[in-house]
Amino acid sequence: MTEKWHESRVIENRHWTDTLWSLRVEAPPLAFEAGQFVRIALDIANERVARPFSFVNPPHDPVLEFFGVTVPHGPLSPRLAELRAGDRLYVAHNPAGFLTLSEVPDAESLWLIATGTGIAPFLSILRTVAPWTRFQDVVLVHAVRHARELAYQDVVSRVLSTRSSFKYVTFVSREATPGALAGRIPAAVRDGRLERAAALRLAPETSQVMLCGNPRMLEDASAALAERGLRKHRRRSPGHITAESFW
Ligand SMILES: Cc1cc2nc3c(=O)[nH]c(=O)nc-3n(C[C@H](O)[C@H](O)[C@H](O)COP(=O)(O)OP(=O)(O)OC[C@H]3O[C@@H](n4cnc5c(N)ncnc54)[C@H](O)[C@@H]3O)c2cc1C
Ligand SMILES: NC(=O)c1ccc[n+]([C@@H]2O[C@H](COP(=O)([O-])OP(=O)(O)OC[C@H]3O[C@@H](n4cnc5c(N)ncnc54)[C@H](OP(=O)(O)O)[C@@H]3O)[C@@H](O)[C@H]2O)c1
Repeated sequence: MTEKWHESRVIENRHWTDTLWSLRVEAPPLAFEAGQFVRIALDIANERVARPFSFVNPPHDPVLEFFGVTVPHGPLSPRLAELRAGDRLYVAHNPAGFLTLSEVPDAESLWLIATGTGIAPFLSILRTVAPWTRFQDVVLVHAVRHARELAYQDVVSRVLSTRSSFKYVTFVSREATPGALAGRIPAAVRDGRLERAAALRLAPETSQVMLCGNPRMLEDASAALAERGLRKHRRRSPGHITAESFW
């Protein structure tokens, strides 16, 4: 099937670090649910090169936003990193994906757990009404290699200042960082450090977990959560873990 594309324009490309950037894009209106993704593309050497990107913006915000990392020698991401205001890019007409709250059963607490750019869909979800009407507590967990990669502190601060039920826990794995946990998420699930940092129980009776980012984190975190009795959620067989792998 031929893909339909909206010709779109970059409004801004904000660089957080040498390798992390956020594109704000003017595009025709697109209906999507927070947590979904859409394919974005550039024409490179006469070929349209497309990759899925999660929406950072909530659905009610007409300016699209995407948070990316430059993968060295990747076919698309280094080109996206170089885009400037006014440059053209293509956005597919059909957002998709199941990392959405409509796929997640009700629970007392919602844990949104991300590595790297995997925080993107959660930034969209956090700026909708649903998490705050459906869950007593909402925890955002963001794991990065270096403290400077903890992007979107401004958005997180705004949510923290307006939602008393919101908690934010960070992991920085490759340098000691005050206020952040060290090491990786699965180890902190196992030894109780994650629960202590959030001051919240992580248990099948109370919790729904959404995971996003590095596929190996998804596997390892799912295994650690399984040891606590949480299992993958399926429509036909309800569970506690809803995940999206970025590669
Ligand atoms: C459903 C979905 C949603 C996605 N949303 C985002 C998003 O919001 N932001 C984003 O940056 N990427 C996202 N990705 C990944 C994105 O589609 C591209 O793979 C990425 O931009 C690299 O593109 P590339 O063409 O340069 O390299 P690719 O050939 O696509 O990837 C090469 C390698 O780079 C690594 N890699 C790819 N993506 C990432 C990443 N995000 N973080 C760390 N390592 C990575 C993997 O090892 C991969 O095998 C998403 C992927 C999927 C499947
Ligand atoms: N050129 C550069 O300077 C540079 C810098 C950053 C990123 N990059 C590119 O971006 C890609 C990935 O970047 P990224 O840092 O956003 O993503 P990442 O490698 O997924 O790391 C993000 C966080 O996830 C953790 N993690 C990795 N594997 C895990 C697992 N199995 N279980 C739990 N946690 C895990 C990492 O911990 P650990 O630190 O313990 O692995 C880190 O804290 C790289 O492949 C590279 O291509 C390049």
